[in-house]
Amino acid sequence: MKKKILSGMRPTGRLHLGHLVGALKNWSLLQSDYECFFMVADWHALMSEYKDPSRLKEFSLDNVIDWISCGIDPDKATIFIQSQIPEHLELYMALSCITPIGWLERCPTYKEQLREIKTRQLNNYAFLGYPVLQAADILLYKSEVVPVGEDQLPHLELTREIAKRFNYLYKKNIFLEPLAKLAKTSRLMGLDGRKMSKSYNNYIGLSDTAQEISKKVMSMFTDPKRIKRTDPGRPQVCNVYSYYKIFSDQGLCAVVENECKRAKRGCTDCKKEFTCLLNDYLLPIQEKREELMGDKNTIIRILEKGREKARSAAKSTMDEVRHTIGL
Ligand code: TRP
Ligand code: SF4
Repeated sequence: MKKKILSGMRPTGRLHLGHLVGALKNWSLLQSDYECFFMVADWHALMSEYKDPSRLKEFSLDNVIDWISCGIDPDKATIFIQSQIPEHLELYMALSCITPIGWLERCPTYKEQLREIKTRQLNNYAFLGYPVLQAADILLYKSEVVPVGEDQLPHLELTREIAKRFNYLYKKNIFLEPLAKLAKTSRLMGLDGRKMSKSYNNYIGLSDTAQEISKKVMSMFTDPKRIKRTDPGRPQVCNVYSYYKIFSDQGLCAVVENECKRAKRGCTDCKKEFTCLLNDYLLPIQEKREELMGDKNTIIRILEKGREKARSAAKSTMDEVRHTIGL
């Protein structure tokens, strides 16, 4: 039997390169070797978007279209929407009962988001419990491996603690302690050098047009000490070069590095070359996306099938949980 994987993404907007590099590439590499569940985490999105959830459904479908365009194969992986499987909330409740509030208040992602995010009111009750619902997502499918970005490591740590506590309190080993699987490059810098994120507006969207991409790449920071074209550059501190490392092969990287260091390549040309490269990279993804956009019924069918498969796995865990607790 294959080991299981569950991962999810919050449908808060269109996807960008950060999602592709940090999650989707990793997901598609794993889908043949594991039994994969990939979930649209719409309840998690609601925890921060509750004041205006009007586009959650649209983004959910749109994200699934992007997943498939980026190589997630619905014949291999189970793709589903969290809110369609009520067992997530049932297990969330059971786990809420055994999770000390201190664990959640101390969670670094919680503290950071309260501090950093000023455009949303995050003082709601559910937001504190964000990692408990995430633990429920993971444990419901008995997943051993969870492909996530670095920023999610504290949530996985909590998931393991909650699983252990459940097994200990109810004297039955029903939950495994899942491990995070980081993507090779789990963090893509945004145009401004901070983490690529929608809320920083420093991203390149998967469906950006060639002109948009060109404009954005041209705005990127390079080596700040390279003022004149004749100054030798330092690719290791240049954001554009870090993109070359992700989206091109070793041969081209070596050429760029060498020419940059010897001032044989100007930043404008370097960015133009990268723009072409990125457009070529995204073209097949965008073509697939166009095709699927015109065929929404296929997406609905995929999600219907995913819902059935996820539901039956979730039900069987919940039966076990109810029995174990004695409900
Ligand atoms: N918290 C994750 C994120 O923001 C999304 C998520 C929800 C998730 N449930 C999950 C990721 C379960 C992995 C496993 O990226
Ligand atoms: Fe960066 Fe390219 Fe300019 Fe070198 S030449 S600093 S790698 S943009």
